[in-house]
Amino acid sequence: MNEAVGHGKVILFGEHFVVHGSPAIALGISSKAIVELEKSDSIQFATDVQGTIPELTGKAIANVMGAMSIQDKFKIFLTGDLPTCGGLGSSAAFCVALVRAFDGYYNMKLSQEEVNKFAFEGEKAFHGNPSGIDNIIATYGGAIEYTKQKGFKQISIEKPFYLAIGITGCYSPTKKMVEKVHRFKESDEGYFQELYDRAVDIVKRGRKALATGDVKLIGELMNENHSLLKEIGVSVDLNEEIIRKFLDAGALGAKVTGGGGGGCCIALAKDVDHAHKLLKAIKPFDGFVTEVNST
Ligand code: MEV
Repeated sequence: MNEAVGHGKVILFGEHFVVHGSPAIALGISSKAIVELEKSDSIQFATDVQGTIPELTGKAIANVMGAMSIQDKFKIFLTGDLPTCGGLGSSAAFCVALVRAFDGYYNMKLSQEEVNKFAFEGEKAFHGNPSGIDNIIATYGGAIEYTKQKGFKQISIEKPFYLAIGITGCYSPTKKMVEKVHRFKESDEGYFQELYDRAVDIVKRGRKALATGDVKLIGELMNENHSLLKEIGVSVDLNEEIIRKFLDAGALGAKVTGGGGGGCCIALAKDVDHAHKLLKAIKPFDGFVTEVNST
């Protein structure tokens, strides 16, 4: 039995605008997808993770196996503690874990770059035309800044901080949300450009705030970023409800993370105890706390 992992993520700044060329900052979280492989006489997929979409998962498996020129057949089992609730990069984490499981099975000794490249082929089955940020953070973890044109660089985080992650329980495929933003852009190119420029500026200031450990500013920038996401139509009522509860409970900032249309929201806490208080404040919504650092 071969086993391998891919990490989940949150996007702190710049989701959606990254699809249109802006930079974005993503942070790896400790929750992960784990793939176990066993040679078999047919390709089979099974999982104990709620909410996977078998049809898309099957397509992703075919894409990854095709890209890696794998002819043998396997039982593929997905497990782990990364929920498939939208926004946490679970599809990319699955694809990365799958590539690494094949890598381990055949002792291919793939570089991280190759793992990312093959995983991206799988990710296309889920998201159509992804920017590439999710599979990069699922491969490398840590904290990264990414643009479609220039790729990624690791960024530094002065001091660890805590995020509360709230799960709306409503899932909208990222592909659908990305298409929605495309339509918004087409309806008013000028206004979209204005919002895009503000997103670029938020990422620029956010990078500095992370490097200097200016938690108050990180929170303010999260709020600013959320107002842009609201404007382009990716925050729905459930997102707004969770974000309001987070802010009422004293979060330093809160926003949708990832594709939106439900999925997940993140809130910046003052410390770990406060992060748990934030989670209590969003009941009946579920969630969890994650520590963010550079590694
Ligand atoms: C999804 O985690 C992030 C989006 O920006 C889509 C993408 O970058 O491919 C919404």
